[in-house]
Amino acid sequence: MKLTIIGTGYVGLVTGACFAEVGHHVICVDNDAAKVELLKGGGIPIYEPGLEELVKKNVSTGRLSFTSSTAGGVEQSDVIFIAVPTPPLADGAVDLSFIEKVAREIAGAMTGYKVIVDKSTVPVRTGAKVAETIKRYCKARVDFDVVSNPEFLREGFAVEDLMKPDRVVVGVRSQRPVQAMKEVYAPFNAPVIVTDINSAELIKHASNSFLALKISYINAISVVCDATGANVHEVAAGMGMDARIGRRFLDASLGFGGSCFPKDLSAFIKIAEQLGYDFGLLKEVQRINTDQMDRFVKKITDTLWVLKDKKIGVLGLAFKQNTDDVRMSPAIELCARLQKEGAALRVHDPKAMDKARALLKDVTFVEDMNEVAEGCDALVIATEWEEFKKLDLERVRKALSHPILFDGRNLFDPAEMEHLGFIYKSIGR
Ligand code: UGA
Repeated sequence: MKLTIIGTGYVGLVTGACFAEVGHHVICVDNDAAKVELLKGGGIPIYEPGLEELVKKNVSTGRLSFTSSTAGGVEQSDVIFIAVPTPPLADGAVDLSFIEKVAREIAGAMTGYKVIVDKSTVPVRTGAKVAETIKRYCKARVDFDVVSNPEFLREGFAVEDLMKPDRVVVGVRSQRPVQAMKEVYAPFNAPVIVTDINSAELIKHASNSFLALKISYINAISVVCDATGANVHEVAAGMGMDARIGRRFLDASLGFGGSCFPKDLSAFIKIAEQLGYDFGLLKEVQRINTDQMDRFVKKITDTLWVLKDKKIGVLGLAFKQNTDDVRMSPAIELCARLQKEGAALRVHDPKAMDKARALLKDVTFVEDMNEVAEGCDALVIATEWEEFKKLDLERVRKALSHPILFDGRNLFDPAEMEHLGFIYKSIGR
Protein backbone atom coordinates (compact mmCIF):
# COMPACT_ATOMS: atom_id res chain seq x y z
CA MET A 1 0.00 0.00 0.00
CA LYS A 2 1.02 3.62 -0.36
CA LEU A 3 1.13 5.25 3.07
CA THR A 4 2.08 8.71 4.30
CA ILE A 5 3.13 9.47 7.85
CA ILE A 6 3.21 13.05 9.06
CA GLY A 7 5.71 13.59 11.88
CA THR A 8 9.03 11.74 12.22
CA GLY A 9 9.31 11.55 16.02
CA TYR A 10 9.52 8.27 17.93
CA VAL A 11 6.12 7.07 16.76
CA GLY A 12 6.20 8.39 13.19
CA LEU A 13 9.71 7.32 12.28
CA VAL A 14 9.48 3.84 13.78
CA THR A 15 6.02 3.29 12.29
CA GLY A 16 7.23 4.44 8.88
CA ALA A 17 10.28 2.18 8.96
CA CYS A 18 8.27 -0.85 10.10
CA PHE A 19 5.50 -0.29 7.55
CA ALA A 20 8.16 -0.14 4.83
CA GLU A 21 9.85 -3.24 6.22
CA VAL A 22 6.66 -5.31 5.73
CA GLY A 23 6.36 -4.15 2.13
CA HIS A 24 4.35 -0.92 2.09
CA HIS A 25 5.57 2.19 0.27
CA VAL A 26 5.95 4.90 2.88
CA ILE A 27 6.48 8.64 2.65
CA CYS A 28 7.51 10.27 5.95
CA VAL A 29 6.77 13.98 6.18
CA ASP A 30 8.27 16.44 8.64
CA ASN A 31 8.13 20.24 8.61
CA ASP A 32 11.64 20.36 10.09
CA ALA A 33 13.67 20.63 6.88
CA ALA A 34 16.98 19.99 8.69
CA LYS A 35 15.62 16.73 10.12
CA VAL A 36 14.38 15.64 6.69
CA GLU A 37 17.85 16.31 5.23
CA LEU A 38 19.45 14.33 8.06
CA LEU A 39 17.11 11.38 7.44
CA LYS A 40 17.63 11.53 3.68
CA GLY A 41 21.38 11.34 4.28
CA GLY A 42 21.00 8.20 6.41
CA GLY A 43 21.19 9.99 9.80
CA ILE A 44 18.86 9.06 12.66
CA PRO A 45 17.94 11.78 15.18
CA ILE A 46 17.21 9.34 18.03
CA TYR A 47 18.82 6.21 19.43
CA GLU A 48 16.44 3.28 19.12
CA PRO A 49 17.77 -0.30 18.81
CA GLY A 50 17.39 -1.68 15.28
CA LEU A 51 15.95 1.53 13.81
CA GLU A 52 18.98 2.76 11.89
CA GLU A 53 19.42 -0.53 10.03
CA LEU A 54 15.71 -0.66 9.23
CA VAL A 55 15.63 2.90 7.87
CA LYS A 56 18.79 2.43 5.76
CA LYS A 57 17.57 -0.86 4.33
CA ASN A 58 14.16 0.45 3.34
CA VAL A 59 15.47 3.74 1.96
CA SER A 60 17.82 1.75 -0.27
CA THR A 61 15.00 -0.48 -1.55
CA GLY A 62 13.01 2.67 -2.37
CA ARG A 63 10.11 1.79 -0.05
CA LEU A 64 10.84 4.56 2.46
CA SER A 65 11.34 8.22 1.61
CA PHE A 66 11.36 11.57 3.40
CA THR A 67 9.97 14.95 2.44
CA SER A 68 8.98 18.24 4.05
CA SER A 69 5.95 18.63 1.77
CA THR A 70 2.67 17.62 3.42
CA ALA A 71 0.82 18.28 0.17
CA GLY A 72 3.13 15.90 -1.70
CA GLY A 73 2.63 13.20 0.92
CA VAL A 74 -1.15 13.59 0.86
CA GLU A 75 -1.31 13.51 -2.91
CA GLN A 76 0.65 10.28 -3.25
CA SER A 77 -1.10 8.12 -0.62
CA ASP A 78 -4.61 7.00 0.19
CA VAL A 79 -3.96 6.49 3.89
CA ILE A 80 -2.38 9.38 5.83
CA PHE A 81 -1.17 8.86 9.41
CA ILE A 82 -0.82 11.80 11.80
CA ALA A 83 2.04 11.24 14.27
CA VAL A 84 2.86 14.73 15.49
CA PRO A 85 3.60 15.76 19.09
CA THR A 86 0.80 16.45 21.57
CA PRO A 87 2.79 18.17 24.33
CA PRO A 88 1.39 19.10 27.73
CA LEU A 89 0.13 22.59 28.55
CA ALA A 90 0.92 24.25 31.88
CA ASP A 91 -2.40 23.08 33.42
CA GLY A 92 -1.90 19.42 32.42
CA ALA A 93 -4.22 19.62 29.39
CA VAL A 94 -2.92 18.66 25.94
CA ASP A 95 -1.70 21.11 23.31
CA LEU A 96 -3.52 19.99 20.16
CA SER A 97 -2.31 22.82 17.94
CA PHE A 98 0.04 20.58 15.91
CA ILE A 99 -2.79 18.13 15.23
CA GLU A 100 -5.12 20.95 14.20
CA LYS A 101 -2.51 22.49 11.90
CA VAL A 102 -1.77 19.18 10.19
CA ALA A 103 -5.52 18.51 9.79
CA ARG A 104 -5.84 21.84 7.98
CA GLU A 105 -2.83 21.11 5.78
CA ILE A 106 -4.17 17.68 4.84
CA ALA A 107 -7.59 19.19 4.09
CA GLY A 108 -6.03 21.79 1.83
CA ALA A 109 -4.15 19.15 -0.17
CA MET A 110 -6.96 16.59 -0.61
CA THR A 111 -8.31 16.05 -4.11
CA GLY A 112 -9.95 12.64 -3.61
CA TYR A 113 -11.08 10.18 -0.89
CA LYS A 114 -8.49 9.72 1.88
CA VAL A 115 -8.33 7.85 5.15
CA ILE A 116 -6.79 10.11 7.81
CA VAL A 117 -5.49 8.12 10.75
CA ASP A 118 -4.58 9.66 14.08
CA LYS A 119 -1.67 7.85 15.74
CA SER A 120 -0.69 10.62 18.17
CA THR A 121 -1.92 10.24 21.77
CA VAL A 122 -4.94 12.54 22.01
CA PRO A 123 -7.83 13.23 24.38
CA VAL A 124 -11.11 11.44 23.74
CA ARG A 125 -13.23 13.27 21.11
CA THR A 126 -10.20 14.61 19.20
CA GLY A 127 -11.13 12.47 16.17
CA ALA A 128 -14.43 14.28 15.91
CA LYS A 129 -12.65 17.63 16.01
CA VAL A 130 -10.18 16.52 13.32
CA ALA A 131 -13.08 15.42 11.09
CA GLU A 132 -14.83 18.77 11.62
CA THR A 133 -11.63 20.67 10.80
CA ILE A 134 -10.92 18.69 7.63
CA LYS A 135 -14.48 19.18 6.45
CA ARG A 136 -14.22 22.91 7.07
CA TYR A 137 -10.87 23.42 5.31
CA CYS A 138 -11.23 20.99 2.40
CA LYS A 139 -11.94 23.19 -0.58
CA ALA A 140 -12.25 20.21 -2.94
CA ARG A 141 -15.23 18.91 -0.87
CA VAL A 142 -14.15 15.29 -1.27
CA ASP A 143 -15.08 12.33 0.93
CA PHE A 144 -12.76 11.23 3.72
CA ASP A 145 -12.72 9.12 6.87
CA VAL A 146 -11.00 9.84 10.16
CA VAL A 147 -9.64 6.83 12.08
CA SER A 148 -8.10 6.57 15.53
CA ASN A 149 -5.22 4.08 15.65
CA PRO A 150 -3.27 4.59 18.89
CA GLU A 151 0.30 3.38 19.20
CA PHE A 152 1.55 1.21 22.07
CA LEU A 153 5.30 1.06 21.43
CA ARG A 154 7.80 1.54 24.25
CA GLU A 155 10.92 3.58 23.61
CA GLY A 156 13.97 1.35 23.64
CA PHE A 157 11.86 -1.56 22.32
CA ALA A 158 9.95 0.37 19.69
CA VAL A 159 10.82 -1.72 16.62
CA GLU A 160 10.11 -4.96 18.48
CA ASP A 161 6.78 -3.64 19.83
CA LEU A 162 5.72 -2.37 16.44
CA MET A 163 6.64 -5.51 14.53
CA LYS A 164 4.92 -7.78 17.07
CA PRO A 165 1.98 -5.82 18.50
CA ASP A 166 -0.27 -7.40 21.16
CA ARG A 167 -3.22 -5.79 19.41
CA VAL A 168 -4.05 -3.17 16.82
CA VAL A 169 -6.82 -0.75 17.77
CA VAL A 170 -8.82 0.84 14.98
CA GLY A 171 -11.49 3.41 15.92
CA VAL A 172 -13.92 4.35 13.12
CA ARG A 173 -17.22 6.10 12.61
CA SER A 174 -18.15 4.09 9.49
CA GLN A 175 -17.11 0.74 8.04
CA ARG A 176 -15.61 2.27 4.89
CA PRO A 177 -11.96 2.63 6.11
CA VAL A 178 -11.88 -0.70 7.99
CA GLN A 179 -10.70 -2.78 5.02
CA ALA A 180 -7.81 -0.40 4.26
CA MET A 181 -6.71 -0.44 7.92
CA LYS A 182 -6.83 -4.24 8.00
CA GLU A 183 -4.67 -4.34 4.86
CA VAL A 184 -2.12 -1.96 6.41
CA TYR A 185 -1.77 -4.27 9.41
CA ALA A 186 -2.25 -7.67 7.71
CA PRO A 187 1.54 -8.39 7.56
CA PHE A 188 1.84 -7.99 11.34
CA ASN A 189 -0.44 -10.94 12.15
CA ALA A 190 -1.90 -9.24 15.22
CA PRO A 191 -5.50 -9.16 16.44
CA VAL A 192 -7.27 -6.06 15.13
CA ILE A 193 -10.04 -4.65 17.27
CA VAL A 194 -12.46 -2.26 15.64
CA THR A 195 -14.26 0.23 17.91
CA ASP A 196 -15.83 3.66 17.71
CA ILE A 197 -13.36 6.57 17.64
CA ASN A 198 -13.94 7.74 21.22
CA SER A 199 -13.32 4.22 22.60
CA ALA A 200 -10.08 3.86 20.62
CA GLU A 201 -8.83 7.19 21.95
CA LEU A 202 -9.76 6.15 25.47
CA ILE A 203 -8.01 2.77 25.13
CA LYS A 204 -4.70 4.62 24.79
CA HIS A 205 -5.06 6.90 27.82
CA ALA A 206 -6.64 4.12 29.89
CA SER A 207 -3.79 1.72 29.04
CA ASN A 208 -0.96 4.13 29.83
CA SER A 209 -2.64 5.22 33.06
CA PHE A 210 -3.13 1.61 34.09
CA LEU A 211 0.53 0.77 33.46
CA ALA A 212 1.60 3.83 35.48
CA LEU A 213 -0.81 2.70 38.20
CA LYS A 214 0.82 -0.74 38.21
CA ILE A 215 4.25 0.83 38.76
CA SER A 216 2.97 3.12 41.53
CA TYR A 217 1.24 0.15 43.12
CA ILE A 218 4.45 -1.87 43.36
CA ASN A 219 6.31 1.25 44.51
CA ALA A 220 3.79 1.65 47.32
CA ILE A 221 4.32 -2.03 48.17
CA SER A 222 8.07 -1.34 48.21
CA VAL A 223 7.54 1.18 51.02
CA VAL A 224 5.79 -1.49 53.09
CA CYS A 225 8.60 -3.92 52.23
CA ASP A 226 11.23 -1.41 53.37
CA ALA A 227 9.37 -0.97 56.65
CA THR A 228 9.06 -4.72 57.31
CA GLY A 229 12.19 -6.25 55.84
CA ALA A 230 10.20 -8.04 53.13
CA ASN A 231 11.55 -8.20 49.57
CA VAL A 232 9.53 -6.39 46.87
CA HIS A 233 11.14 -8.46 44.14
CA GLU A 234 9.78 -11.64 45.68
CA VAL A 235 6.39 -10.05 46.30
CA ALA A 236 6.23 -8.97 42.63
CA ALA A 237 7.24 -12.45 41.46
CA GLY A 238 4.56 -14.03 43.64
CA MET A 239 1.89 -11.58 42.51
CA GLY A 240 2.93 -11.76 38.89
CA MET A 241 2.44 -15.52 38.65
CA ASP A 242 -1.28 -14.88 38.93
CA ALA A 243 -2.19 -14.56 35.25
CA ARG A 244 -4.84 -11.98 36.18
CA ILE A 245 -2.09 -9.70 37.50
CA GLY A 246 1.00 -10.48 35.38
CA ARG A 247 4.64 -9.79 36.28
CA ARG A 248 5.38 -7.04 33.76
CA PHE A 249 5.51 -3.40 34.98
CA LEU A 250 5.90 -4.54 38.56
CA ASP A 251 9.53 -3.47 38.86
CA ALA A 252 9.85 -1.16 41.85
CA SER A 253 11.98 1.89 41.04
CA LEU A 254 12.79 5.45 41.97
CA GLY A 255 9.69 6.32 39.92
CA PHE A 256 8.52 6.35 36.30
CA GLY A 257 9.24 9.16 33.87
CA GLY A 258 9.52 9.82 30.15
CA SER A 259 7.46 11.75 27.67
CA CYS A 260 4.38 9.51 28.00
CA PHE A 261 3.27 8.36 31.46
CA PRO A 262 3.63 11.69 33.33
CA LYS A 263 2.02 13.63 30.48
CA ASP A 264 -0.75 11.12 29.80
CA LEU A 265 -1.68 10.87 33.48
CA SER A 266 -2.03 14.65 33.77
CA ALA A 267 -3.98 14.75 30.52
CA PHE A 268 -6.35 11.96 31.54
CA ILE A 269 -6.99 13.56 34.94
CA LYS A 270 -7.74 16.85 33.16
CA ILE A 271 -10.02 15.20 30.58
CA ALA A 272 -11.97 13.48 33.37
CA GLU A 273 -12.21 16.76 35.27
CA GLN A 274 -13.62 18.49 32.17
CA LEU A 275 -16.17 15.68 31.92
CA GLY A 276 -17.17 16.21 35.55
CA TYR A 277 -15.29 13.26 37.10
CA ASP A 278 -12.59 13.62 39.75
CA PHE A 279 -10.10 10.84 38.86
CA GLY A 280 -8.65 10.70 42.39
CA LEU A 281 -7.14 7.25 41.79
CA LEU A 282 -4.80 8.66 39.13
CA LYS A 283 -3.91 11.65 41.31
CA GLU A 284 -2.74 9.12 43.90
CA VAL A 285 -0.65 7.38 41.22
CA GLN A 286 1.08 10.72 40.59
CA ARG A 287 1.54 11.35 44.32
CA ILE A 288 3.12 7.94 44.94
CA ASN A 289 5.48 8.57 42.03
CA THR A 290 6.60 11.96 43.39
CA ASP A 291 6.99 10.53 46.89
CA GLN A 292 9.07 7.65 45.57
CA MET A 293 11.73 10.11 44.38
CA ASP A 294 11.59 11.95 47.72
CA ARG A 295 12.03 8.66 49.57
CA PHE A 296 15.03 7.71 47.43
CA VAL A 297 16.71 11.07 48.00
CA LYS A 298 16.01 10.69 51.74
CA LYS A 299 17.67 7.25 51.67
CA ILE A 300 20.77 8.94 50.29
CA THR A 301 20.76 11.86 52.74
CA ASP A 302 19.96 9.59 55.71
CA THR A 303 23.11 7.61 54.91
CA LEU A 304 25.51 10.33 53.71
CA TRP A 305 24.02 12.97 56.05
CA VAL A 306 25.32 16.25 54.57
CA LEU A 307 25.74 16.21 50.77
CA LYS A 308 27.55 19.55 50.54
CA ASP A 309 31.07 18.96 49.22
CA LYS A 310 30.40 15.22 48.75
CA LYS A 311 31.14 13.59 45.42
CA ILE A 312 28.47 11.22 44.07
CA GLY A 313 28.64 9.03 40.99
CA VAL A 314 25.41 8.57 39.01
CA LEU A 315 24.92 5.74 36.52
CA GLY A 316 22.10 6.39 34.07
CA LEU A 317 20.64 9.63 32.74
CA ALA A 318 18.02 8.39 30.26
CA PHE A 319 14.46 7.93 31.57
CA LYS A 320 14.78 4.19 30.97
CA GLN A 321 17.12 1.66 29.35
CA ASN A 322 17.92 1.39 25.59
CA THR A 323 17.20 5.02 24.79
CA ASP A 324 18.94 8.38 24.66
CA ASP A 325 15.72 10.15 25.66
CA VAL A 326 16.14 12.33 28.76
CA ARG A 327 12.74 14.04 28.68
CA MET A 328 11.13 13.91 32.16
CA SER A 329 13.87 11.51 33.20
CA PRO A 330 13.82 10.55 36.90
CA ALA A 331 17.63 10.22 36.62
CA ILE A 332 18.00 13.86 35.58
CA GLU A 333 15.63 14.95 38.35
CA LEU A 334 17.69 12.95 40.85
CA CYS A 335 20.88 14.65 39.65
CA ALA A 336 19.25 18.06 40.08
CA ARG A 337 18.10 17.13 43.61
CA LEU A 338 21.58 15.94 44.62
CA GLN A 339 23.16 19.07 43.15
CA LYS A 340 20.70 21.23 45.06
CA GLU A 341 21.90 19.58 48.26
CA GLY A 342 25.45 20.63 47.31
CA ALA A 343 26.85 17.34 45.92
CA ALA A 344 29.34 17.31 43.04
CA LEU A 345 28.39 14.71 40.41
CA ARG A 346 30.25 12.33 38.12
CA VAL A 347 27.72 10.91 35.66
CA HIS A 348 27.51 8.34 32.88
CA ASP A 349 24.93 6.97 30.48
CA PRO A 350 25.60 4.52 27.64
CA LYS A 351 23.64 6.60 25.09
CA ALA A 352 22.10 9.69 26.66
CA MET A 353 25.15 11.82 27.57
CA ASP A 354 24.86 14.15 24.57
CA LYS A 355 21.20 14.92 25.21
CA ALA A 356 21.83 15.21 28.97
CA ARG A 357 24.47 17.91 28.42
CA ALA A 358 21.68 20.34 27.58
CA LEU A 359 19.98 19.71 30.93
CA LEU A 360 22.83 19.09 33.37
CA LYS A 361 25.34 21.81 34.14
CA ASP A 362 28.47 21.59 36.30
CA VAL A 363 28.69 17.79 36.32
CA THR A 364 31.58 15.63 35.12
CA PHE A 365 30.58 13.38 32.23
CA VAL A 366 32.52 10.10 32.37
CA GLU A 367 32.85 7.91 29.26
CA ASP A 368 33.55 4.59 31.01
CA MET A 369 30.93 3.33 33.48
CA ASN A 370 33.67 1.65 35.53
CA GLU A 371 35.41 5.01 36.11
CA VAL A 372 32.39 6.88 37.48
CA ALA A 373 32.98 5.83 41.12
CA GLU A 374 36.56 7.20 41.11
CA GLY A 375 36.97 9.32 44.27
CA CYS A 376 33.22 9.34 45.02
CA ASP A 377 31.57 9.07 48.44
CA ALA A 378 28.80 6.90 46.96
CA LEU A 379 27.49 5.52 43.69
CA VAL A 380 23.85 5.75 42.56
CA ILE A 381 22.08 3.71 39.87
CA ALA A 382 19.30 5.75 38.29
CA THR A 383 18.44 3.95 35.02
CA GLU A 384 17.83 0.23 34.43
CA TRP A 385 20.43 -0.30 31.67
CA GLU A 386 21.28 -4.04 31.37
CA GLU A 387 24.97 -3.26 30.98
CA PHE A 388 25.16 -1.76 34.47
CA LYS A 389 24.73 -5.33 35.73
CA LYS A 390 28.17 -5.99 34.23
CA LEU A 391 29.81 -3.26 36.32
CA ASP A 392 33.28 -4.21 37.64
CA LEU A 393 32.10 -4.24 41.26
CA GLU A 394 35.49 -5.00 42.73
CA ARG A 395 36.97 -1.97 40.98
CA VAL A 396 33.99 0.19 41.97
CA ARG A 397 34.31 -0.85 45.63
CA LYS A 398 37.97 0.09 45.69
CA ALA A 399 37.38 3.37 43.82
CA LEU A 400 34.76 4.63 46.27
CA SER A 401 36.03 6.42 49.36
CA HIS A 402 33.43 4.34 51.21
CA PRO A 403 31.70 1.39 49.45
CA ILE A 404 28.14 2.78 49.44
CA LEU A 405 25.83 2.00 46.52
CA PHE A 406 22.26 3.29 46.18
CA ASP A 407 20.35 1.29 43.57
CA GLY A 408 17.20 3.03 42.32
CA ARG A 409 16.51 0.18 39.88
CA ASN A 410 17.18 -2.98 41.94
CA LEU A 411 19.79 -4.30 39.50
CA PHE A 412 21.87 -6.27 42.02
CA ASP A 413 21.26 -8.97 44.61
CA PRO A 414 21.41 -7.43 48.12
CA ALA A 415 23.01 -10.52 49.74
CA GLU A 416 25.70 -10.70 47.06
CA MET A 417 26.45 -6.98 47.36
CA GLU A 418 26.82 -7.28 51.10
CA HIS A 419 29.10 -10.26 50.61
CA LEU A 420 31.25 -8.14 48.28
CA GLY A 421 31.61 -5.58 51.06
CA PHE A 422 29.12 -2.93 49.91
CA ILE A 423 26.69 -0.92 51.98
CA TYR A 424 23.92 -1.52 49.47
CA LYS A 425 20.55 0.26 49.58
CA SER A 426 17.91 -0.51 46.98
CA ILE A 427 14.12 -0.15 46.70
CA GLY A 428 11.90 -2.27 48.94
CA ARG A 429 14.44 -5.00 49.61
C1 UGA B 1 4.93 3.88 27.47
C2 UGA B 1 4.07 2.62 27.31
O1 UGA B 1 4.69 1.50 27.94
C3 UGA B 1 3.84 2.31 25.82
O2 UGA B 1 2.94 1.21 25.69
C4 UGA B 1 3.24 3.56 25.16
O3 UGA B 1 3.06 3.34 23.76
C5 UGA B 1 4.18 4.73 25.35
O4 UGA B 1 4.35 4.96 26.77
C6 UGA B 1 3.57 5.94 24.70
O5 UGA B 1 2.50 6.38 25.13
O6 UGA B 1 4.09 6.39 23.67
P1 UGA B 1 7.56 4.39 27.35
O7 UGA B 1 7.21 5.64 28.10
O8 UGA B 1 8.37 4.50 26.10
O9 UGA B 1 6.22 3.58 26.94
O10 UGA B 1 8.39 3.41 28.33
P2 UGA B 1 7.99 2.34 29.46
O11 UGA B 1 8.72 1.10 29.19
O12 UGA B 1 6.52 2.24 29.61
O13 UGA B 1 8.62 3.02 30.79
C7 UGA B 1 8.07 4.23 31.34
C8 UGA B 1 8.72 4.53 32.67
O14 UGA B 1 8.32 3.58 33.67
C9 UGA B 1 10.26 4.47 32.66
O15 UGA B 1 10.77 5.54 33.44
C10 UGA B 1 10.57 3.14 33.30
O16 UGA B 1 11.83 3.11 33.91
C11 UGA B 1 9.46 3.03 34.33
N1 UGA B 1 9.12 1.65 34.75
C12 UGA B 1 8.65 0.76 33.85
C13 UGA B 1 9.26 1.30 36.09
O17 UGA B 1 9.67 2.11 36.94
N2 UGA B 1 8.91 0.02 36.47
C14 UGA B 1 8.42 -0.89 35.58
O18 UGA B 1 8.12 -2.04 36.00
C15 UGA B 1 8.31 -0.52 34.24
